[in-house]
Amino acid sequence: MLQNIRYKTPHGASCKTFAVSSLIIFILIFCTLSYTQFCNKSNSVGLFGSNPFEFIRPTSSQSVTNSPTNISHIRFVIAGSVNSWKHRKSYIEAWWRPNETRGNVFLDLPPTQEFLPWSSASPPYQINENLTKLRIYPKLANPGQVRMYRSILESFRLGDNKDVRWCVMGDDDSLFFVDNLVELLGKYDHNKYYYIGANSEAIRANYDFSFDMGYGGAGYALSYSLIETLVPMMDSCIERYSYVWVSDQLSSFCLADIGVALTIAKGIHQIDLDGDISGLLSSHPQYPIITLHHFDFINPLYPSKNQAESISHMMEAAKFDQSRMLQQTICYHRPTNWTFSVSWGYSAHIYENIIPRSVLRKPLETFGPPSYYSKTPPLFMFNTRKLTDNPCEAPHVFFMDSIKKLEDNLVITTYNRTSPRNLQPCSASANHSADSITQIQVFLQSTKRKEAGRIECCDVEYVDGMNVADVKLRSCLNGELIA
Ligand SMILES: *[C@@H]1O[C@H](CO)[C@@H](O)[C@H](O)[C@H]1NC(C)=O
Ligand SMILES: *[C@@H]1O[C@H](CO)[C@@H](O)[C@H](O)[C@H]1NC(C)=O
Ligand SMILES: *[C@@H]1O[C@H](CO)[C@@H](O)[C@H](O)[C@H]1NC(C)=O
Ligand SMILES: *[C@@H]1O[C@H](CO)[C@@H](O)[C@H](O)[C@H]1NC(C)=O
Ligand SMILES: *[C@@H]1O[C@H](CO)[C@@H](O)[C@H](O)[C@H]1NC(C)=O
Ligand SMILES: *[C@@H]1O[C@H](CO)[C@@H](O)[C@H](O)[C@H]1NC(C)=O
Repeated sequence: MLQNIRYKTPHGASCKTFAVSSLIIFILIFCTLSYTQFCNKSNSVGLFGSNPFEFIRPTSSQSVTNSPTNISHIRFVIAGSVNSWKHRKSYIEAWWRPNETRGNVFLDLPPTQEFLPWSSASPPYQINENLTKLRIYPKLANPGQVRMYRSILESFRLGDNKDVRWCVMGDDDSLFFVDNLVELLGKYDHNKYYYIGANSEAIRANYDFSFDMGYGGAGYALSYSLIETLVPMMDSCIERYSYVWVSDQLSSFCLADIGVALTIAKGIHQIDLDGDISGLLSSHPQYPIITLHHFDFINPLYPSKNQAESISHMMEAAKFDQSRMLQQTICYHRPTNWTFSVSWGYSAHIYENIIPRSVLRKPLETFGPPSYYSKTPPLFMFNTRKLTDNPCEAPHVFFMDSIKKLEDNLVITTYNRTSPRNLQPCSASANHSADSITQIQVFLQSTKRKEAGRIECCDVEYVDGMNVADVKLRSCLNGELIA
């Protein structure tokens, strides 16, 4: 998958790509004009069956059921390698739930002695088939990536597909928020064809590879009926696209050729970014977080911890409530003219000024584009705020320190200042410095998950002169203005 691959798409590919995209456009238009289901069964009836307008039921062997989708309906297919396993095992074990999550990590080679006996906290491993048996092998541009892609097929052929509704692809350095993933996939009909994933954050990456591609490290999901159709065609697709460098691109091409386009989910994060991504994680899009990727290319998520510690720290909060993880809640303390912005389970900011949500929802550009991409703007697929020394616009920054659950479903997270702001107070507002605040306590009292896509509101409780401020999360009132 697209992770350590720092190659640009080979130039030689562009002509073929053009021809392919014309075909894709044709198929997509045809599907839209006729009936989506018709295109879905192209392998069994031929692309142009006797009556193109006939409704063709999915021939899925799964019993069609309306029961809610749960964790047992998802099969994970994790692309790993023996070389990276030592280092990345802890990333997977942070989210994997033994005996609950299903699936495998696929390795290039048998695990070495140091990994045996295989940890029961890790997904069971499988070793990928040896590609040299494929007649196309000598022509493959990048056999390592084809190996990763074929894990989908090899996972399917392992059997034990009973009640599988979704296959979810990821890398060994992808962190999944499984409860949110279950909720997301539950919104889609697994008996139809779905390819759910996300673009890169870097405009240049999408330009070079595809805007219609789900990045594999970020993770993408394929509905089971799509997998059933795809698997028998996979090797012929690999032959058709033997020149493709990257498994994610191969995947999107194979799906495009059977009329399946990417459905974008905004909580899926490739993290094609460099350095400090706290700006993004403090203004996460208004959707549940599903994945995070690329930990080895960015600073530790929490500045006072290393990356492995950061991930387990984040998952500690995720254990309590994934629906609120990294969800941005904003409220104001009017006597001081301060704005509080909390990214639950991660960070809290204080601005010495009243700043509306429309501004604060844009991430602070604490990060850069990956070093191997152009530095010429526009760089990112989302709007950002530039870092500034203006005391009315620069936040005081706090990161999650502790999380504890009290009775009555009350969860308290605390956020500590990690470094001084080193600026004068904002004199254009109340001229009231927040330098003395060392900690923010956030109170969450709820028995339910937060509704996906909706924000919550909060109230600030602060007594002048204290060094701790309290923030209480609550539902927003009807029409409540956050400005
Ligand atoms: C998931 O749903 C199935 C019904 O489709 C049910 O039999 C099973 O017990 C559920 N599993 C979990 C872990 O909730
Ligand atoms: C998983 O299930 C097996 C067999 O049912 C059991 O021996 C093992 O202890 C379980 N592992 C965990 C981590 O619960
Ligand atoms: C794959 O098979 C070839 C030919 O038999 C062999 O040379 C190679 O070592 C094998 N690769 C792996 C990873 O086992
Ligand atoms: C966080 O701040 C609180 C209150 O100021 C303090 O008691 C606690 O030790 C701090 N945590 C760390 C890790 O420094
Ligand atoms: C703002 O407060 C500082 C002390 O914190 C004071 O020196 C300064 O004169 C004040 N500025 C204004 C415009 O009131
Ligand atoms: C808050 O700032 C506004 C200007 O943005 C100012 O008019 C108002 O007086 C300030 N409130 C306080 C309590 O200083």
